[in-house]
Amino acid sequence: MGKLKITDNWDSKADLVLYCGDCLDLLGRIPSGSINLIVTSPPYNIGKSYERRTSLDDYLRWQQRIIDECVRVLSDNGSICWQVGNYVDNGEIIPLDVLVYPFFQQHNLHMRNRIIWHFEHGLHASKRFSGRYETINWFTKADTYVFNLDPVRVPQKYPQKRYFKGPRQGELSGNPLGKNPSDVWDIPNVKANHVEKTIHPAQFPVELVERLVLSMSNERDWVLDPFMGVGSTLIAAVMHNRRAMGAEISSEYCQIARDRVDLAQRGELRVRPMERPVYDPNGGTGIPPKMVYLPGSDPESLFVREKSARRGHT
Ligand SMILES: C[S@@+](CC[C@H](N)C(=O)[O-])C[C@H]1O[C@@H](n2cnc3c(N)ncnc32)[C@H](O)[C@@H]1O
Repeated sequence: MGKLKITDNWDSKADLVLYCGDCLDLLGRIPSGSINLIVTSPPYNIGKSYERRTSLDDYLRWQQRIIDECVRVLSDNGSICWQVGNYVDNGEIIPLDVLVYPFFQQHNLHMRNRIIWHFEHGLHASKRFSGRYETINWFTKADTYVFNLDPVRVPQKYPQKRYFKGPRQGELSGNPLGKNPSDVWDIPNVKANHVEKTIHPAQFPVELVERLVLSMSNERDWVLDPFMGVGSTLIAAVMHNRRAMGAEISSEYCQIARDRVDLAQRGELRVRPMERPVYDPNGGTGIPPKMVYLPGSDPESLFVREKSARRGHT
């Protein structure tokens, strides 16, 4: 495979589309039913540097328009993963997934999981418990949908455990490929010491998106992130030979997304490996960051190759 074909607007022949502008403009150009997987985290309307806080009603009306368009462009066996946390008003939290759930329900989408993404770093609350999880809300358009469990299995807790009686006595009782990762995911969020950190205050860890991409799409499928930020979804998608598309309204973040893709094409982008256990203060994990190789960056190893690099990151 040659170098990625990267375009700045919808092009069915591209490998990667980086749209620097409003996601509704990009969505409007995408033909119905052409996207296999949508993974995104929208602004939460909480006054982060990349958003202008509006009334909750206006925010929800805007989100509904985007969700309507996402459902339109989604293929019949496709999935949407809407990753959100809480809207906070005067110290009161309102879970955004509860508020946007009806927008998916109106289109008769089916919710398959409400994944709890648990992480360790964030603001320290003084009048409530500090928030340390957000949710990934997975919807499908139909009952027939892509779900590949084997590529995302995680190590069994007791890999040598065997049946001790019955017809299978002595055989391994767990799947030797590993177990289902469940709907509670312990994945470090991207804060100061993370190997993927950019200037973006709320970027996805690439490994979180990798798990979604590997399980919910197939090679050469289209993966879309309408709020791509610094392009983490796109990186995870192209690492695994999917086509990827994203929109980002901030030209600065859009440029960083482009720079990250270029680094990956040169084999110089470092990401935290999916296989690395969460930081254990009592000892290292022995798994260093891995370098991302995209088509054209290294003919022998097209996508991902383990390499020794800097140690000591979460
Ligand atoms: C929560 S962040 C997403 C970060 C992203 N997951 C990443 O890994 O970098 C939401 C992003 O949406 C962008 N955004 C806000 N309004 C937008 C719009 N109308 N169209 C496209 N992007 C928008 C913001 O600039 C911000 O970068």
